[in-house]
Amino acid sequence: MKAPIRVAVTGAAGQIGYALLFRIASGQLFGKDQPVILHLVEVPPVMGALDGVEMELDDCAFPTLAGVVKADSDHLEDGFADCNFVLCVGSVPRKAGMERGDLIRINGPIFTNTGKAIQAAAAKDVRIVVVGNPCNTNCLIAMANAPDIPRDRWYAMMMLDENRAVSQLAKKSGMTVADVKNMTIWGNHSATQYPDFYNATIGGKPAADVIGDESWLQDTFIETVQKRGAAVIQARGASSAASAANACIDTVKNIITPTPAGESFSAAICSDGSYGIDEGLICSFPLTSDGSNWSIKQGVKQNEWAQAKVDATVAELKEERDTVKDLLP
Ligand code: LMR
Repeated sequence: MKAPIRVAVTGAAGQIGYALLFRIASGQLFGKDQPVILHLVEVPPVMGALDGVEMELDDCAFPTLAGVVKADSDHLEDGFADCNFVLCVGSVPRKAGMERGDLIRINGPIFTNTGKAIQAAAAKDVRIVVVGNPCNTNCLIAMANAPDIPRDRWYAMMMLDENRAVSQLAKKSGMTVADVKNMTIWGNHSATQYPDFYNATIGGKPAADVIGDESWLQDTFIETVQKRGAAVIQARGASSAASAANACIDTVKNIITPTPAGESFSAAICSDGSYGIDEGLICSFPLTSDGSNWSIKQGVKQNEWAQAKVDATVAELKEERDTVKDLLP
């Protein structure tokens, strides 16, 4: 058996946390030969419910679950101690009628302490995935408050958007989700994100040729993906949970698994200036992984219409950065 890895999940008793923990504990994320110690972090009023989650984890008798550590958010360093992954799920969710950016001054400040505690306590090889919204800018805040952690360890989750886009293209084309490749989301996890259908393929052919309806792609498809989170809130009365947890699993899998040749995945990472996108912004790009480090796929071309979409979502990221300037030391 391998040595256990430690995975912290904030918001562990919340809806996303509940959908996430059992998949990690059961070996679905890191494999059946990789023991995991889960660090469950919650706000103090929810610690009672977290005891119940721990009981249920015990009651599953997962062979891969090597231990559970619980900590409240007043003791974040205990929660993140020696963790190899920190999954920042906990945050106030948006309600119907809100944009994710409306949460920026509510959730943003939480991420200053998160960043400091990760730097102080986590393992030297820690990697962080931010799920709580607005995830790109929350990730930026945490990263700025943890200057000793290399900037290539920080991720904000975009796989929920990529999966939504893949699913829409598969449905429209009558093909399977496995036929859809390179469905990159550029920019912000917000209503300005750009789902780059021009560079996606379906069954090895350009998605636009297979769909054969550019106006559907430019209007209906993009808007459906951009506004899917709001549609789920409208329908469920609560924000996405199982699909968000699934996307978090997909993100970590994409990070730790070499990307198949010719393919890519979406995650927001600290921009290195590629494609003229401001260095330091947490922006989504097409990425490849060698199993431990990511690279931004280069040479992706945009037409004028698509470039305007990328520019708009990057402009929003810059505005969000300016809104939280006081939280960026
Ligand atoms: C989502 O995309 O479903 C989540 O980010 C939750 C939300 O507020 O939309």
